[in-house]
Amino acid sequence: MMQMTEAIQAQVRDPMVPYPAIIRRTIWENDDTFTLTLDLDGPLDGFAFLPGQFNMVYAYGIGEVAISISSDASRSGTLDHTIHRVGTVTTALSQKKKGDVIGLRGPYGSSWPIDAARGKDVCVVSGGIGLAPLRPLVYSIVRRRDEFGRVIVLYGGRSPLDLLYRVELEKWANDANIETLVTVDRGDSSWKGHIGVVTTLFDYIKLDVRETVAFVCGPEMMMKFTIQELEGRGLGQNQIFCSMERNMKCAVGFCGHCQFGPTFICKDGPVYPLPRVRELLDKKEL
Ligand SMILES: Cc1cc2nc3c(=O)[nH]c(=O)nc-3n(C[C@H](O)[C@H](O)[C@H](O)COP(=O)(O)OP(=O)(O)OC[C@H]3O[C@@H](n4cnc5c(N)ncnc54)[C@H](O)[C@@H]3O)c2cc1C
Ligand code: FES
Repeated sequence: MMQMTEAIQAQVRDPMVPYPAIIRRTIWENDDTFTLTLDLDGPLDGFAFLPGQFNMVYAYGIGEVAISISSDASRSGTLDHTIHRVGTVTTALSQKKKGDVIGLRGPYGSSWPIDAARGKDVCVVSGGIGLAPLRPLVYSIVRRRDEFGRVIVLYGGRSPLDLLYRVELEKWANDANIETLVTVDRGDSSWKGHIGVVTTLFDYIKLDVRETVAFVCGPEMMMKFTIQELEGRGLGQNQIFCSMERNMKCAVGFCGHCQFGPTFICKDGPVYPLPRVRELLDKKEL
């Protein structure tokens, strides 16, 4: 049904044209990361996406950047993008106010293969802003909770103030349906939780390695160590999926900017089964 809706939309929306979206609100998650909620109407009415997909977000007159969709795929009418302010375009987007208009085209790319985890335990591992593309996956899994075994969410940030979605993390931590473990690299006086990199959290959970599917997103170094840890514990590489990032331009497989070895991240990724990217992950820049 979802795929059918997407097919219909693809016919009416040009994939190279940014369509206007109005900013409903901006929530600052921490000092340099914010979540933009956009109203979807006009040509974007009925916009549908799958967890893990991204949009090209356009600050008119400045430029366009790839940003994962971080809201619940079942929510209609609005869309969230959680954005780390790092350079020209993300800074311009951070300065937008309620009612301002930005451009949007998408959704693009592959999605988290939720059905690969049906009947199995799910282990979501994220670092920093890597939780943004995984949040829609967690929403979808929670909505279909009966179809899965244990649902484990491991999340690491640099410091307590850097953690995204703090209210939601608290909610997940109090939800008996999800095992949520959060860690920070550096604590502060307010932090009573775990300190250490995200892979240290594996010491606190026992995975049923033959029955677990892992979804991983974060800085590349974090993903490498996470994959090492998962494999060290006995997960097969076909049970691991990760989301990759490279600079994007067209987002539709024409320009080659996002080339990652023999693949283009905009159309073959960003979500890959580990065997497709395993050797590339060991190379510094491709
Ligand atoms: C599929 C995909 C999904 C993405 N999803 C998100 C998302 O959900 N949220 C998000 O914030 N970003 C996301 N990104 C990354 C985002 O596209 C880049 O951060 C963005 O292009 C930066 O644009 P800019 O014009 O602000 O920075 P630029 O002006 O291009 O860069 C300015 C400086 O920032 C550095 N820089 C660029 N990108 C990063 C980065 N990611 N981290 C640290 N330094 C950086 C550059 O090296 C440069 O020094 C995603 C990228 C891809 C490919
Ligand atoms: S961004 Fe142009 S080919 Fe991927």
